Amino acid sequence: MARPLVVVAGARPNFMKVAPVLRALAERAPEVPRVLVHTGQHYDAGMSEVFFRELGIPPPDVHLGVGSGSHGAQTARVLEGFERYLLDAPERPRGVVVVGDVNSTMACALASVKLGVPVAHVEAGLRSNDRAMPEEINRLVTDAVSDLLLTSEPSGAENLRREGIPEARVRFVGNVMIDTLVHELREARALSMGARLGLASGRHALITLHRPSNVDDPRRLASLVALLGAMAGRLTLVFPAHPRTRAALASGGLLARLECHPGVLLREPLSYRENLGLMESAAVVLTDSGGIQEESTFLGVPCLTLRANTERPVTVSQGTNTLVGEDLSRVPALLEDVLAGRYKKGAAIEGWDGRASVRVADALLMTFSAE
Ligand code: UD1
Repeated sequence: MARPLVVVAGARPNFMKVAPVLRALAERAPEVPRVLVHTGQHYDAGMSEVFFRELGIPPPDVHLGVGSGSHGAQTARVLEGFERYLLDAPERPRGVVVVGDVNSTMACALASVKLGVPVAHVEAGLRSNDRAMPEEINRLVTDAVSDLLLTSEPSGAENLRREGIPEARVRFVGNVMIDTLVHELREARALSMGARLGLASGRHALITLHRPSNVDDPRRLASLVALLGAMAGRLTLVFPAHPRTRAALASGGLLARLECHPGVLLREPLSYRENLGLMESAAVVLTDSGGIQEESTFLGVPCLTLRANTERPVTVSQGTNTLVGEDLSRVPALLEDVLAGRYKKGAAIEGWDGRASVRVADALLMTFSAE
């Protein structure tokens, strides 16, 4: 039997990236066995299972069940679990594919390379240049040890060149997350989420917040809640709260304020399609997510990013994204621009065309031979 390709997923933002890659591999080379490993970094049904179901991802072949923990503990558990899997695997994989920038991405890349199993990183080269961000460390380490670096936007290759990574290892493939968006858009629309939530057309904002820099600092979180309270007078806010955010709101005594506000719909995390439907029909998105900056750019929806930097600069230079930074007092004026139709319009981004996963599959099959 041909040696397998192992694909790793661990946390919510990984699932929409592995779905199209697995599908493209099955189409391009059905004879190559694919093994899907779920590290278990995210484990709530609403953070994991629902994405497998909606996106048609096959059930994981291997589940490491690592769960939550400090960065060191979580990373160590993935490292140990994935190494054990590689050592015990009946056949040595021809390669391991990791996506994105979560702790599971870095840990599995490290475990593989130490055992001499080549690694491909999908979404390589993104840099916020902010080492206080846990994901930035994950990106740097993963790219430093990967054999094949598959980039999603122009800044990726530039950053990797600056870090001295040989060009022969780098390939521009485009954005696999957009493949999933294109694949799911019709189903997302069919859910009519706006109508189900009783929203007036084009009069809602979608809010997502979960970065430690926003939710772990009680003062920052309180000012964000005050901002949302003020915005809710102009638009209905749909706010699906990440478990970490909900816990931080509760411990800061801020949860009730949002729950009681008539202009705020605080919800549990949404499924992929629910979120996509609400994003496409939103007047504006307020977020600190990486993926949502890209998705809103593709959809042409204004996006105000509640961060000082972004590892996805093309969404600002060519897309609909604006970095708000520390100073939240900028938001009301930006919001008025959006509501008055004065906000910038974005352009289409090269390689964000629904076919990136086919280019990923071809690069993987060419680089990781069966020998
Ligand atoms: C992780 C990623 C981040 C990504 C985010 C998307 C890292 C360093 N961070 O952050 O890049 O944007 O996922 O969600 O890998 N929890 C649950 N249920 C779950 C998962 C988590 O309740 O299914 C809670 C736990 O209290 C946990 C906390 O959320 O301690 C944080 O989870 P963790 O996986 O450590 O990081 P995220 O903040 O989700």
